[in-house]
Amino acid sequence: MSVTRTPLAALASLLLSLAILAPTARSQTPPAAQPLALRSIMEQLGRDLQSVVDAIAKEDWAAVAALAPKIAKHPEPPPPEKVRILSWLGADAAKFRNHDVQSHDAALVMGDAAARADGNAVIDAFANVQRSCLACHQNFRKGYLDHFYGKR
Ligand code: HEC
Repeated sequence: MSVTRTPLAALASLLLSLAILAPTARSQTPPAAQPLALRSIMEQLGRDLQSVVDAIAKEDWAAVAALAPKIAKHPEPPPPEKVRILSWLGADAAKFRNHDVQSHDAALVMGDAAARADGNAVIDAFANVQRSCLACHQNFRKGYLDHFYGKR
């Protein structure tokens, strides 16, 4: 894995120290009335990944190469929302950030494979992108939804 640091990762390390200094923030965040920006970011990631599936089926490697950086460098929530999320994460912020880096790196590998029109490598990398999404979802989604939206 490369040590590429996204801007989110850099902010995350900064805010991680704040979260450690303010451990009580975790229990003080009220449930969100409006959906957080992370949801629409995730929905766009889901659509982009779906478009990759369609492009693979057409062997449209140029389309995959164009989608991969969008997935790697997805937008970030606005800073106040990042603070809320990082406060909630507390000591798990580094783990959460690492999942994001894994997604980022896997998407770039997929883009490189697409640029070489190497279909099998694209599919292998695609599986790794999916695994990175799944890993973060398995670790954090339920707790995140419980915290920011209340029990479902
Ligand atoms: C760093 C953690 C993390 C990574 C990596 C991640 N997600 Fe998510 N994802 C979340 C969280 C947290 C939620 C719950 C957000 C919500 O529903 O408000 C979520 C929710 C979603 C949803 C459901 C949105 C909805 O409307 O219910 C989709 C779709 C999604 N992610 C797609 C992806 C895809 C595709 C990838 C990989 C390219 C990915 N995610 C990678 C954390 C992550």
